[in-house]
Amino acid sequence: MDTADIPGLIREAYEAQKFAYAPYSRFYVGAALLTAKGRVYRGCNIENAAYSPASCAERTAIFKAVSEGERDFAAIAIVGSRDAYLPPCGVCRQVMQEFCDRETFQIILAKAPEDYKVYRLSELLPEAFCLGK
Ligand code: THU
Repeated sequence: MDTADIPGLIREAYEAQKFAYAPYSRFYVGAALLTAKGRVYRGCNIENAAYSPASCAERTAIFKAVSEGERDFAAIAIVGSRDAYLPPCGVCRQVMQEFCDRETFQIILAKAPEDYKVYRLSELLPEAFCLGK
């Protein structure tokens, strides 16, 4: 995606974060997933009293998009509720591996709309497990 569009995608992630349901960790995460066609799917983390049913913000966004027929993704912006970049967890990296190009998909970790780092999936998930690709 164009560098000029990154702050806008980060703002979408902050909008998603407002809906985070995290009464157990009190760590609020937002993600905004950009499709190749330019549509944005937002996701937040959703926790559960039984803990393990929780979903990360990134997976919420990806599953929303895939369940609506989208499989071609350009970038994801991720924001957390501390003043730090929030790298996606290992499970979310593996879900990205399923649907995203390892070299072109951009993973944007943001502390503010103008303060971010961009990674490729191949950097965050080297030697990824995959079948038939
Ligand atoms: N979390 C995310 O939503 N994304 C990540 O990449 C890491 C962690 C959520 C899961 C849980 O609700 C909270 O942050 C604390 O781990």
